[in-house]
Amino acid sequence: MFEISVDTSLSKVDFYKELDAQLTGLLYDERDLICNAAQLSAFIMQSVPDLNWSGFYFARGEALILGPYVGKVACTRIPFSKGVCGAAATTRTVQRVEDVHRFPGHIACDGDTESELVIPVMVANTLLAVFDLDSPIKGRFTLEDQQGIAQLVATFINATDFGWSLGSH
Ligand code: SME
Repeated sequence: MFEISVDTSLSKVDFYKELDAQLTGLLYDERDLICNAAQLSAFIMQSVPDLNWSGFYFARGEALILGPYVGKVACTRIPFSKGVCGAAATTRTVQRVEDVHRFPGHIACDGDTESELVIPVMVANTLLAVFDLDSPIKGRFTLEDQQGIAQLVATFINATDFGWSLGSH
C-alpha cells in the first residue's frame, strides 16, 4: 500500500514540494495515461484539504469529456464555450475562481462547490485535457495553491505516455 504522509504545518510552498516528491514516487514506473490520471485525482483529493471534486476532462474536438475523477458524479460533456473548464480549454490558461456563483456560465455539477481551480493539460503544444479541482470553501485557492497544483500536473505529464491519445480525436 502507498502511504501519503504530509506535515500540514508546513508552509504552502513546502507542503506542495513535499507532495510533489510523493507524487513522483506514486507514479514511478507507470506511464499509462488512464492509470496516472486516476492516481493524480485520488492523490490530490486525499492529500490537499477542503476539496469536494478532483479530476480530468479530456479534450475531444470542441468538447470536454469526463475522465478519471474522485467526487460526486459529474456532467459528462462540457462544450468549450461553457463553464470554468471550457474557459480553461478555450484560453489555455489557468482559471482560478474565488466564487463560482460570480463566474458567468459556471456549471454547477456539485451544489456544494464554492470555488474552483482549473489547469489546462498541454502536451506537445496540444490541449489534451483540463484538470479540475472544486472546493466547498469560497476563495479556497491562492496563487500558491495554483502554482503547487500546476507543478503536480507537470509531474503527472512528465510521468505519462500520451502517444496514443494525441491526434486521435
Ligand atoms: N464547474 C465546472 C464543471 C465541472 S464540475 O465542477 C466537476 C465548470 O463550470 O466548468
